[in-house]
Amino acid sequence: MVIEHNVSLQPFNTFGLNAKAKSYCNITDETVLTEVLKTKKNQPLFILGGGSNMLLTKDIEALVLHISLRGIEVVNQTNNTVLVKAKAGENWHQFVLWCLEHNYGGIENLSLIPGNVGTSPIQNIGAYGKELKDVFESCEAISVKDQEKRIFTKSDCKFGYRESVFKQELKDEYIITSVTFKLTKSNHILHTDYGAIKQQLEAFNITEPTIKDVSNAVIAIRQSKLPDPKEIGNSGSFFKNPVISMNQFKKLQANFPEVPSYKVSDDLVKVPAGWLIEQAGFKGKRFNDYGVHNKQALVLVNYGNAKGSDIYKLAQLIQITIKRIFDISIETEVNII
Ligand code: EPU
Repeated sequence: MVIEHNVSLQPFNTFGLNAKAKSYCNITDETVLTEVLKTKKNQPLFILGGGSNMLLTKDIEALVLHISLRGIEVVNQTNNTVLVKAKAGENWHQFVLWCLEHNYGGIENLSLIPGNVGTSPIQNIGAYGKELKDVFESCEAISVKDQEKRIFTKSDCKFGYRESVFKQELKDEYIITSVTFKLTKSNHILHTDYGAIKQQLEAFNITEPTIKDVSNAVIAIRQSKLPDPKEIGNSGSFFKNPVISMNQFKKLQANFPEVPSYKVSDDLVKVPAGWLIEQAGFKGKRFNDYGVHNKQALVLVNYGNAKGSDIYKLAQLIQITIKRIFDISIETEVNII
């Protein structure tokens, strides 16, 4: 076990923020993970995955365990389905590409989402009409308290919109070490209903798309709207889309007839936070080294040397403004550290 001190986390968070870890251990082996958890029992710990869903507003006064477990294997298959197990430290998009190379379908709509496999169930990543839960079979996790390994089934995870048990009652209690996905080997079920995918496939002149074509369409759409964290620091959607009551939605619509919406149930409606933020005038606004992306108002960006605390202040200003104008509270999707 190699423990380093005073380590910059800048390369390990997609916002590219220069916060420091008091101590840092890169975990490439499960036995080392168990050993660290046993020997460092009384020390505060901070679990770091792909660093794609957090805003570091300060240095981390803890031992940062960077989960870098690697490996992908097929664990079972039938004629039409395959169970693929990927270790937590595999990069999500590289995993999607591996599945596409093997013609395994089910996660093509989730192409190019930043982050790692191990953190994908924590917030039930989703895009273009698909969510992780649709292909999730199980995950393995180690208890921080007693190092017991536990297998979580789909129902154990209590998945919701960008939600799971790992963000709620079991927050910080388990470290996910691998995730098993149930994918298709043939007769893939394509989800191209999301408007932009259809248009993109048409633009590619593709009438009978394969899973690779759907992935390419998603990649093209994402690249046209979302900043690449390697070029401009960001964490994808900074806020969740708020879900409001039908009554509240009707009032909103009376004042803003053009408001886009998705019906969640007879009583609930989801409103795109990106639209609210754009209407409030924040889209493309830049303050020194940070701001709101000019092509997708849901994304906050670090243009260079911004401080996490400044980005957080901007996020709070956006929340207060949205509340004032629309009487809607928007929650952060990103974890504020
Ligand atoms: N919109 C605006 N202005 C903006 C952005 C969006 O008016 O600046 C409007 C659009 O015109 C559209 C609606 O909002 O009517 C929805 O926009 P979009 O399709 O871009 O999706 P989103 O709801 O803003 C969600 C996810 C994204 C995911 C896309 C596509 C959340 C919080 N975000 O964004 O996820 O890629 O749908 O499925 O649910 C992420 O989680 O990091 C992420 C990027």
